[in-house]
Amino acid sequence: MLYKSIIRPLLFRMRPEQAHRFTFAFLKFTNYIPLLRAFIRNRYQFEETQLICKGIVCKNRIGLSAGMDKGAEVFNELADYGFGFIEVGTVTPDPCEGNPRPRIFRLPKCDALIARTGFNNPGLKTVKQRLAHRAGRVTLGVNINKNPQSTGQQAVDELLHMLTELSTRADYFTLNWGSMDAPLMEQVLTALVERRASLPMRRPILLKLPGDITPEGMDEVLATIARHGLDGVIATGPTTDRSLLRRYTKAELEAIGSGGISGKAMGLKSYFAVDYLRKHGGPDLLIIGAGGVMTPADAERMIRMGADFVQIYSAFIHEGPGIVPQMVVRVGEME
Ligand SMILES: Cc1cc2nc3c(=O)[nH]c(=O)nc-3n(C[C@H](O)[C@H](O)[C@H](O)COP(=O)(O)O)c2cc1C
Repeated sequence: MLYKSIIRPLLFRMRPEQAHRFTFAFLKFTNYIPLLRAFIRNRYQFEETQLICKGIVCKNRIGLSAGMDKGAEVFNELADYGFGFIEVGTVTPDPCEGNPRPRIFRLPKCDALIARTGFNNPGLKTVKQRLAHRAGRVTLGVNINKNPQSTGQQAVDELLHMLTELSTRADYFTLNWGSMDAPLMEQVLTALVERRASLPMRRPILLKLPGDITPEGMDEVLATIARHGLDGVIATGPTTDRSLLRRYTKAELEAIGSGGISGKAMGLKSYFAVDYLRKHGGPDLLIIGAGGVMTPADAERMIRMGADFVQIYSAFIHEGPGIVPQMVVRVGEME
């Protein structure tokens, strides 16, 4: 109530990245007032449970998607709001500016966002340092990628370096399917799996699929997972399909320009993907359902379609932090 009636209108008066910085400043500020942090934790976390599912140990099945805390600045504070796990990144070896601003656009009439941020992040060294300050109870995924310009063996070496450097600090790794061409992806996965075998901790490696993936594309992903012995998928990231942004004119959307669509306007794409992947990938495949999960009923539907875990991003922006415990309870009632 408070979020939708007061906080969101204030935040939505700011530009999206300004609101993002303001929110992060608030989250960091809560560290200086232990009573405030305790109050927040008390309000948003009510059960100390532990769940072990397909190599991931966490408090509950609702997580935060990559892209919100790209630089691992406030993952401990975000965890106060009840998330079972947080995915930071996308992180690249070197710091990266990302695309020119503006690059995030709210579409409140459709509970959606359009983003073309690129991989803006402070780079591996900074993220590694920040992850050292992880509070014990936070389960962390790290979404990794190569530097944008890197190709061939250099890209492979960069990703190997990321995996090695972060293997004791992450609970799982994600790689975005489609972020490099198929032969390079094949080379990268072969190298990552081989390196993982020599590391002290075996961390799940997941492929995050684009919202527009076809059944043929998913078959290819499943074959890749089987070939390399990967662990699972995140289904899905944003879509490029704008057909559900009906409350905006063509001119308004053209003025925004390119970008992936997140939130309610993704429709049911990710649910169909999860359903397909579970049916064709079998019961052991780890599936995180993401994309367009806006309500507790959506989270429940994702689990019913076959997801082991659920991730949200847009719902946190549009509905506020109260949505997290609501989803946790709804999904918890299914156990
Ligand atoms: C502003 C913004 C930045 C994002 N950055 C990343 C990113 O760096 N890496 C990534 O894998 N996904 C990124 N995403 C995609 C989200 O992780 C998520 O897959 C997508 O928003 C769909 O989920 P939702 O409908 O719950 O928002 C980003 C999304 C938004 C809106």
